[in-house]
Amino acid sequence: MTANILDGEFVAATVRNRVATEVAELARRGKNVGLGTILVGEDEASARYVEMKHRDCAEVGISSAHLHLGQGVSTAEVLEAVQEFNARPDVDAYLVQLPLPNGVDEQVVLSAVEPSKDVDGLHPFNLGLLVMGRPGPLPCTPAGIVELLTHFGIDPSGKHVAILGRGLTIGRPLALLLALKRPKCNAAVSVVHTGIANPELIVRTADIVISAAGSPGVVKASWIKPGAVVVGAGTSWEGRRIVSDLDDEVASVASWVTPRLGGVGPMTRAMLLVNALEAAKRNLGS
Ligand code: GUN
Repeated sequence: MTANILDGEFVAATVRNRVATEVAELARRGKNVGLGTILVGEDEASARYVEMKHRDCAEVGISSAHLHLGQGVSTAEVLEAVQEFNARPDVDAYLVQLPLPNGVDEQVVLSAVEPSKDVDGLHPFNLGLLVMGRPGPLPCTPAGIVELLTHFGIDPSGKHVAILGRGLTIGRPLALLLALKRPKCNAAVSVVHTGIANPELIVRTADIVISAAGSPGVVKASWIKPGAVVVGAGTSWEGRRIVSDLDDEVASVASWVTPRLGGVGPMTRAMLLVNALEAAKRNLGS
């Protein structure tokens, strides 16, 4: 078997089209949508991700603002940038690109983002809404994965989903989201992580495997139940080359698989635009 491709570039383009139509509609009503990004330090990959987010904004008619702080800044200096975006009326929503350099307290920074402007859904208040199953901005990668699966008619409801990784931006919120009693979720979720001795024993029983481990090729074909759906959400860099969590051979066992490039990444960025649009709509209504 050779797996079908979960083409995130294609699905993200349809999401962007939808967003562009609504952004234009808001503009006709006199409301511009503005997204902000805060980049701290000189990490090349983070800078590239942020650049792509601004390019996406331009494509759909969202105006974007950017603050870049140097490598050696303190938590207090990052908080000043956060306060600036909290106060700016032209910024409906914004994100602080992660990871932050050592010495900057991520939890303090994320907690200082005004929850109504939290385009990443990573403020404790918004994560609390997710825990409670109430509406709020969803973290972009988990939301993008659900959107990607849905587009290809893959419904996690009633299925066993194994997630590799328990990080703040993907694994932990994705587990919460997929376990919620709501359409396109409603799954039995296992989270495997570095504290588990033989993750493959659990992964092998899953109908859907989502890897957010950030460990090159960690998911082997032998870990996959034949016909399972496999999503690679974790990436790492070998020089300037992005490497997937999924070993290439996974595609010979799975029914659906993400490509090394153009799977989850574009979906994450597309959901960022969706969240920015939703924040702007809330601002219009308030
Ligand atoms: N770095 C990797 N993923 C993310 C994300 O979803 N949001 C932010 N802000 N930074 C990231």
